[in-house]
Amino acid sequence: MKGMVFVHLLEMVENEFGELLLESAIEHAQTSTQGVFTSAGTYPAEDMLKLVASLSELTQLPPSALYQHYGRYLFSKLFASYPMFPQEVLNNAFSFLASINDVIHVEVHKLYPDAELPKFITHYHDENKMILEYTSSRRMSDLALGLIEGCLQHFKEDVEIQMVPLLEDGTSVQFTLIRKP
Ligand code: HEM
Repeated sequence: MKGMVFVHLLEMVENEFGELLLESAIEHAQTSTQGVFTSAGTYPAEDMLKLVASLSELTQLPPSALYQHYGRYLFSKLFASYPMFPQEVLNNAFSFLASINDVIHVEVHKLYPDAELPKFITHYHDENKMILEYTSSRRMSDLALGLIEGCLQHFKEDVEIQMVPLLEDGTSVQFTLIRKP
């Protein structure tokens, strides 16, 4: 997993929970590099699991809530850091979300050939409804939920999100987005 995903997580934890909790979380997590992450580096995805588990213990918040919360934060950071978005995907949240798999993550992969990206397939897309399927061996659908929420917030759109697991092991999840009247 790319370092910037860790760097933004640690930065959010420091801002929202304070330096002391961040230090304890890093100490307890025993990540492969003892909590040292640089944006350009690449680290095992298990390090993210360890950090979130450790944060969950210290904050008493479930890992799913932490991933979702982090996803909302991460969206604004990713959006601000990359000037790669073609104009036609910036019309609204649905067109942006529909472009993640075939445009945005493709560009990410060109920049970082070792990035491990999820599949994010659009099954249905009209003005008011969208059905997306998330598939990844890293099982980070709660992070995906938070990223989707961050995207909707960015475009200031009022949309209801339903999240249904397609496989029990968490590797495949369907999101249905319905625009509120
Ligand atoms: C709402 C929109 C987005 C969704 C739902 C989404 C989904 C995800 C998820 C769930 C992951 C974690 C890896 C996994 O689950 O396998 C991920 C990784 C990543 N995404 Fe996206 N993403 C979105 C937007 C973006 C944007 C705007 C960028 C930046 C241009 C971006 C760049 C990345 C990068 C760099 C990674 C890390 C890859 C790695 O660690 O190897 N994503 N994305």
